[in-house]
Amino acid sequence: MPDFDAYVSSMEERASSALSSTSNGADLFGSVDFLDGQVSRKLREAVPLGVRRERGAFFTSSDLRTAALVAWPRAETPVGPVLDPAVGAGDLLIEVAQSLPVFSGLDSTLDLWGSQLHGRDIEPSFVRLAKARLALLAISRGAVPTNGRRMRLDDLFPGIMAGDGIDVLNSGWEGGHIVMNPPFGYHSPGFAVEWANGRTNMAAMFLASAIEHSTAGTSLTAILPEVIRTGSRYRRLRAFVSERLRVVGVESFGRFDAWTDVDVFTLRGVVKEVSVKEDSETVEWWQRSNGRKLGEECDISVGSVVPHRDEESGEEYPFLQARQIPLGGDYDASQAEKRRFTSRLFEPPFVVVRRTSRPADRARGIGTLINGADGILVENHLLVCKPKDGSLESCHRAIALLRSPKSREWLDQRIRCRHLTVGALREMPWFDA
Ligand SMILES: C[S@@+](CC[C@H](N)C(=O)[O-])C[C@H]1O[C@@H](n2cnc3c(N)ncnc32)[C@H](O)[C@@H]1O
Repeated sequence: MPDFDAYVSSMEERASSALSSTSNGADLFGSVDFLDGQVSRKLREAVPLGVRRERGAFFTSSDLRTAALVAWPRAETPVGPVLDPAVGAGDLLIEVAQSLPVFSGLDSTLDLWGSQLHGRDIEPSFVRLAKARLALLAISRGAVPTNGRRMRLDDLFPGIMAGDGIDVLNSGWEGGHIVMNPPFGYHSPGFAVEWANGRTNMAAMFLASAIEHSTAGTSLTAILPEVIRTGSRYRRLRAFVSERLRVVGVESFGRFDAWTDVDVFTLRGVVKEVSVKEDSETVEWWQRSNGRKLGEECDISVGSVVPHRDEESGEEYPFLQARQIPLGGDYDASQAEKRRFTSRLFEPPFVVVRRTSRPADRARGIGTLINGADGILVENHLLVCKPKDGSLESCHRAIALLRSPKSREWLDQRIRCRHLTVGALREMPWFDA
């Protein structure tokens, strides 16, 4: 990342000259843009999106870090050492450092901050940048350099260094606090984990390692992709988290930032004693309803044909495909293209809903009533909602429920990923539609 390195060097020069100046920080900085959007902007300008995705390099905006650390104690005395195992350019530690004490002398301030702030990142230039920004933050908050001691950036923040964050988590963090916005890319763990098969999200690996290996009482604040909160693939991970973390907050944030199209949530909790099983309470990952649910009235399943994978053989039947049927209204399946396949057939009347949709999409959760032919094949991009009593009237009631504003709001909260799931539709509360 040569272009970005030039920016990192310029920030280091700025920090080094501020460390040896005796001016007050407030005079040194016209603006404190270096604490927020500037770094992400420089990264976007210098490093192509594909490379940033591969490395998971997306820095947390001040809005998101404030939301994530809203409950962080604003104490007079430091709360104890804090680790960010994927520290990037230090944004989460910057938020933490906003509530660390500032002494009049810069050296004593940075000594204290250095003992409290710990981080790892596999990208050494990010680590250099994190240190420079933290030093600049201390100066901008009013710590004044004295002539007495010469400070070199390299010697500051000895706990922040290049390295693998999973390794540091796996060796057991005993410092007391972990904050993280880990990479969201997919990798094979390389070792067996009880809650995942095959490729898994790196964020899930960071989360599980933090909870599994940190000492009891460690507080955790994590920014994570929504798929971990609601995706069926992470059900076992959520069960593991519920068992080992006393969860105190699960909050959806929405889109990561204006340039990064991933919805995220924040998770806050305290690591439990491994032996304490009796209070393994069920975590409220989403709002649940004790009343009647859609899944009690209808059988919900995914269409069984995977068009490009499934060989065309057997008898021919009408084939429903998401891109060919109307959004809402009725559809006579006898008009549909035909296809051969020996798989599950659906008998009308039933309702289909598109699986692919994003929160707040107009099309999200809109049901189309299917009638017409006997025996219909349905592609796997559609969810099928078949009333248990088989009646047309129940289909209409399900469609009305699905399109009601309350249901749409509930669905956006329940599942912020791109795919609606069978589980989410089954759990949909039967609001008075
Ligand atoms: C989403 S960014 C977040 C950075 C920072 N914590 C923040 O909130 O802005 C994730 C960071 O993880 C780093 N990373 C990727 N794999 C890592 C690993 N195995 N160990 C440590 N850091 C890693 C990336 O270089 C990137 O800086």
